[in-house]
Amino acid sequence: MSDVVRVESLKSDLGVARIVSLPRPELEKGWVRVEIERVALTTNNMSYAVFGDALGYWNLFPAADTDHGCMPAWGFAHVTESRVDQIVEGTRVFGYFPLSNELVMRPTAITTRSFVDAAAHRTGTPKVYNVYEIKAEAASARSDSFVSIFRPLFITSYTAADFLRERNYFGASQIVISSASSKTAYGIAHCIAGDASVVKIGLTSARNGDFVRQLGCYERIAEYGDLASVDRDVPTLYVDLAADPELRRRVHEYFGDSLVYDCLVGSTQGVQLPDPAAPDENLPGPQPEFFFAATQLDAYKAAGQARAFMAQYERDELSFTERVADIRNPWMRLEEHRGLVDAPSVIAQLHDGTVDPAVGHIFEIQPTGAGE
Ligand SMILES: NC(=O)c1ccc[n+]([C@@H]2O[C@H](COP(=O)([O-])OP(=O)(O)OC[C@H]3O[C@@H](n4cnc5c(N)ncnc54)[C@H](OP(=O)(O)O)[C@@H]3O)[C@@H](O)[C@H]2O)c1
Repeated sequence: MSDVVRVESLKSDLGVARIVSLPRPELEKGWVRVEIERVALTTNNMSYAVFGDALGYWNLFPAADTDHGCMPAWGFAHVTESRVDQIVEGTRVFGYFPLSNELVMRPTAITTRSFVDAAAHRTGTPKVYNVYEIKAEAASARSDSFVSIFRPLFITSYTAADFLRERNYFGASQIVISSASSKTAYGIAHCIAGDASVVKIGLTSARNGDFVRQLGCYERIAEYGDLASVDRDVPTLYVDLAADPELRRRVHEYFGDSLVYDCLVGSTQGVQLPDPAAPDENLPGPQPEFFFAATQLDAYKAAGQARAFMAQYERDELSFTERVADIRNPWMRLEEHRGLVDAPSVIAQLHDGTVDPAVGHIFEIQPTGAGE
């Protein structure tokens, strides 16, 4: 019987990860065992690790010791052993997994579309992380890879764009988006590309300036050191993916009264987030407001629009990923790693911020034989 192989991050230095081998647990009644087919890693996964203790991400997949944590990742798996009547072997699911070759789960709330893993250590975490969507056989390994990378990111881009559009961009005529090279950031720019009432300005590092320039979804680009090149006299909305406190201060001081709203979506710099209960009185302009995709999705659910929203979303996600992969000018190319052996070095690069933004990292752990 083969072992469970898993990647665990050192909590005191998130750039360091190890590969551990553990005995396979016996499968008890009421549980299923899944083989994990493929998962994606982007900076978003590093954010889960950064907030592993604060937001409970470390609880989802307990590590072998308390100095380590299992970084969660989105991807596909299939059931190889089932001790649950309603779930047959071979059932495919999409959801949240550890970087591992397998996982045992205790499905509840089982429908033809999904189930919830009710393992005891997961009950304190938001439901969105415990739901597994039941999926048909893979259309292709490539399409699964794109969904693994973009489903958690583009749903944020899409709902953030909706949130801002519904509020008429808070009266702004330009939107400054930090960490503009990130997939979540350019997803937002893509979603509002057709809206001529606002100019989209990508704010990025000198290292990633050329990448952002060639995307074509921002009308203008400014590097972090070149904020002064942006017009400060028009109503401006800041969409913050970086969460860099020094950059936030510079943005607020530079735009002054022109800053209409600060929408905090991401934290690529991996720092502590502002405390909404303790506003920074010395920060000029509006305080940053957190954006959570889940809150926006709850609003659709409350309005009875959840299913229609998801149907439209999946169509728009497909057209976005087709644009991302367009061979005439691809925004991203897949880098597929066999097994987990490369995971520690990719995690080190994500931690340092040295990952090429033009690359999407996929770990193909248990190939399914689906065609390319
Ligand atoms: N609110 C939500 O619900 C939600 C949902 C999904 C994602 N997010 C957040 O969105 C952010 C972007 O995630 P992603 O997966 O789209 O990112 P990604 O595509 O992997 O983007 C990487 C970019 O982030 C910046 N960066 C990454 N690591 C860095 C480091 N160590 N130091 C400095 N800059 C670094 C760089 O951009 P620049 O050079 O352009 O700065 C880099 O090109 C994450 O913080 C993620 O948690 C939030």
